Amino acid sequence: MSLKDFIQEYRKNKRVLFTTPSHSQGGFIVPGSKKMLGERFFECDYSEIEGFDNLSDPNGILKDIQNNAAEIYGAKSAFFLTNGSTSGIIAAMYSILSRNDKVLIARNCHKSVYNGLVLTGAVPVWILPKYNEEWGIYETINLDCLDETLTRNKDIKAFIMTNPTYEGVMSDIYRISAVCKKHNVFLIVDEAHGALWNFHKSLGTPALVQGADIVVQSLHKTAGALNPSSILLVNKDCKIPESRFQEALNLITTTSPSYPILLNIDETINFLNSEKGRLKLLELTKNVNRLIRALKNIPNLEVYQYNNDVTKILIKVVNLSGFELSDLLFSKYKIEDECANEKSVLLLTGIGNEKSKLVKLERALKHLCASNIKITQDETEYKTFKNIEPRVRLTPSIVWGKPFKEISVKYALSLVSMEMICDYPPGIPILLPGEVIKKEHIEYLQDRKTIKVLA
Ligand SMILES: Cc1ncc(COP(=O)(O)O)c(C=O)c1O
Repeated sequence: MSLKDFIQEYRKNKRVLFTTPSHSQGGFIVPGSKKMLGERFFECDYSEIEGFDNLSDPNGILKDIQNNAAEIYGAKSAFFLTNGSTSGIIAAMYSILSRNDKVLIARNCHKSVYNGLVLTGAVPVWILPKYNEEWGIYETINLDCLDETLTRNKDIKAFIMTNPTYEGVMSDIYRISAVCKKHNVFLIVDEAHGALWNFHKSLGTPALVQGADIVVQSLHKTAGALNPSSILLVNKDCKIPESRFQEALNLITTTSPSYPILLNIDETINFLNSEKGRLKLLELTKNVNRLIRALKNIPNLEVYQYNNDVTKILIKVVNLSGFELSDLLFSKYKIEDECANEKSVLLLTGIGNEKSKLVKLERALKHLCASNIKITQDETEYKTFKNIEPRVRLTPSIVWGKPFKEISVKYALSLVSMEMICDYPPGIPILLPGEVIKKEHIEYLQDRKTIKVLA
């Protein structure tokens, strides 16, 4: 039974609840919310009352819907997350790592991984993926480098990486997981941007299928669910007991999970797994592929195509920096992208992207590229992202809360950073607390006056 059907059945009982939440399933809704959200949203918002279940120790309907999801994904277990992939990533780390355990992390990780380091007390060993200067993005990890790093550091317990990357670049997880297995290292894949992959083969192969131990996905990013609906999936071969994940999640998540979000996660998964879902994804891929073909025919415009998820459209236009292109799309065509860098612009699509929206983008880009826009391309004006090899002086958990002083950036060379320098999006750190400030950091931070350093 779905959570939606369960709630509908429950409502027939007409129980009189003196419990939270105090809006009493819509008995009182502040007027502004009522108008914008509608009564229905409140009607399905319950707490862990008699006859329902408890997300922190599920035994009833929540257990059933999570088991149903696990079956759909081919996982040993599935955990619904009402606090985003952020919570899933931290819980995945907690389930494996203890204080002073070593963990290998691809540097293009989301900042939640850093937060997981602060909380678990684990010690990071960083691995830098290949950086594509032409497009200003990270690509894949070198397998030999992964193998060497794990050979050199026999005590690494887990490897955490993002796949697909923010821009959609896919790695060969089959081979990465084989290397991890050879070294007895758990593989955690942040698949926040790959939530459609389980439901449409042409998008990408899910990391779980390719042998990752733990996978975290954001259903709100591409799969159409409410913010911040996510899921944590555990591989059938993973040796960590289910209870460990539950304990880890219980450390960091609310005791009042949102039932509308849980219901929405359940409905999203069931829809994606249905014939209608399959057709919807077919339509999405057809439309996006059509758009990409059209974009490729526009003079002066280039589309990034290197083993990437087609739902992420990365483009650049001759004579324009990514920032300029982004500004023009916004100011002239009211088109807002996901993010831009000095070279390119990222436009995210997903299940909710109707054809008409894609057509607007195509028209705007055709018009923009035809209109002889020439902006002074002075590369020095733009902050070029630097793929700087980090030097960790103090681990994130040790440096957390330590006293700091704010000094002029130009005097910060060789001191220990107390700041996370991490432009968002994409939220990939350039410098983290506890890391030594290098010459390259100072160059990158030219337009900042000060930086916090360890006192
Ligand atoms: C690669 C990646 N991982 C994890 C996250 C965190 O996901 P959530 O917003 O679901 O917490 C994000 C969010 O932008 C992301 O881009």
